[in-house]
Amino acid sequence: PTTRYYDWTVESATVTVNCVTVPRIVVNGEFPGPPIYAVEGDRIVINVTNKANTDVSIHWHGVRQILSNWHDGVPYITECPLKQGEYFVYNFTVENQQGTVFWHAHINWLRATVVGALIVYPRNFTYPYPKPDEEFTVLLGEWWNRDPNAVEIAGVKTGQGFQVADALLINGKPGSLYNCSDAEGISTFKVQSGKTYLLRVINAGLNTETFLGIANHTQTVVSADGEYVKPKDINTSFISPGQTLDVLITADQEPGTYYMETKSYSSIMITDTTVLPPIAIMSLRNDDPKIPASAIFQYDTSPPLDPSHTFFPALPEENDTDPTFRFLDSLRTIYPDQVPAQATRKQFFTVGLAAQPCNTSFQNCTFATVAQINNITWVEPEISILKAYYFGIEGVYKTNFPDIPLRFFDFTNADSPDAPGRVSELGTRVSVIKYGTVIDLVLQGMNNLLFQNHPFHLHGHSFWVLGRGMGNFDPNTSPSGLNYHDPPFRFTVDVPSRGWVAIRWKANNPGAWYFHCHLEKHTTWGMMMAFIVLNGDGPDETLPPPPEHLTPCLT
Ligand code: C2O
Ligand code: CU
Repeated sequence: PTTRYYDWTVESATVTVNCVTVPRIVVNGEFPGPPIYAVEGDRIVINVTNKANTDVSIHWHGVRQILSNWHDGVPYITECPLKQGEYFVYNFTVENQQGTVFWHAHINWLRATVVGALIVYPRNFTYPYPKPDEEFTVLLGEWWNRDPNAVEIAGVKTGQGFQVADALLINGKPGSLYNCSDAEGISTFKVQSGKTYLLRVINAGLNTETFLGIANHTQTVVSADGEYVKPKDINTSFISPGQTLDVLITADQEPGTYYMETKSYSSIMITDTTVLPPIAIMSLRNDDPKIPASAIFQYDTSPPLDPSHTFFPALPEENDTDPTFRFLDSLRTIYPDQVPAQATRKQFFTVGLAAQPCNTSFQNCTFATVAQINNITWVEPEISILKAYYFGIEGVYKTNFPDIPLRFFDFTNADSPDAPGRVSELGTRVSVIKYGTVIDLVLQGMNNLLFQNHPFHLHGHSFWVLGRGMGNFDPNTSPSGLNYHDPPFRFTVDVPSRGWVAIRWKANNPGAWYFHCHLEKHTTWGMMMAFIVLNGDGPDETLPPPPEHLTPCLT
């Protein structure tokens, strides 16, 4: 194994996207940020210096961080944010994993521009599928003409919602369906007839779940969230913020220019206001960018092609749930019978929106929309959960995250005490798990107002996605339909807004691990919690904090 060193400076640079030229916070002057390429087992050492005039942290999304929890890069969970002038040396291995993951700022809405790919090649570069001739990274994102951190603050002030992104992006460019491609160009993938390409697709967007299609070309999905799946041929793939997909395509069509497009999914409004509880203030609007981002697959020919050989994909309607669920349900691991036979702990989380009285000193409202898990809206602690746990500092968090066993839950009953729109409780509460515990976790979406999945991401672990359904989870009938044989092993799962998803995971990595919706607007609203995975009965000697970590965080 190799140790790979990187020196990164986070600072403001001038960026031109979507016809605006603006200062944005980026890594080493690049947008999208520098990719990291490593081989399974390598050690990665990145010295990150913050020269930006705002707090920063970098999270390695999908890196297992086995026994390196201090390097997970999450402010208030594993570190304090890096202030201007501070640095942090992230140091971890990419052991026991191979595939496409990524890195991003994990603070405010900085992920919009502080983001890049992290690719872990298998040892000896051997894949469980025919070796592609070449590969391309396809980093999906979102762009705001305004400073994204200002968009976040403005949204919190209204108490009701956030400004929609001004453009979707593929590798930092909106493409030619927006008006700026003449000046800015379009992301172009040059292909040769007969060759096969691996697309490493990452949805690093903040708030938009997307469909992805390539004109006339079949996508063969071979990996999801850095774990191999049985090859699956489809026309349109579906990917949520926090997910990755590896997809093979073969240049087997007549030579031409083939558009790849990515388009928003979801946001069907329910206009039946009888389900509205009296105090809820929800933003009843369609809140996704409407124009697809595009890139092109350009067949390399001589003489050059005439421009009439240009083809566009047909993508599903924005609100078409069928292809989405069919796609998600069709993913199967290539390693069957790995799921632990029994769960020793069963947990039930309801996830959705809620209301909170506004803080009128900075909010212009009476009740604000927030988000909750089991009716708790997460409040950031002053020092990190991991530090408080490791040093036994009291008063930082409570260990009484509601531990609800699997149960039938009627989220559609507006009179239920669990009805959406009720006032949530504010709190920093964690769920404490013994090392080695196998957990069945059912996530019940309970939002009556918006059809939007919550892509939930777990740090430090992947989980088996046993199954999903619409409506209310029923522990007596639903489990029979679950797949214990060959479910996909993922790190981000879509919780249907009016349905449920069942996952099983083994808590085999000690430390403090964030679990949250990867839609940034919902993170801002508090849709997160943390698990503390114990190793034995006390603080774990295998997890010493790195020295440079102590100064900024203990003062
Ligand atoms: Cu991309 Cu907390 O994660
Ligand atoms: Cu969400």
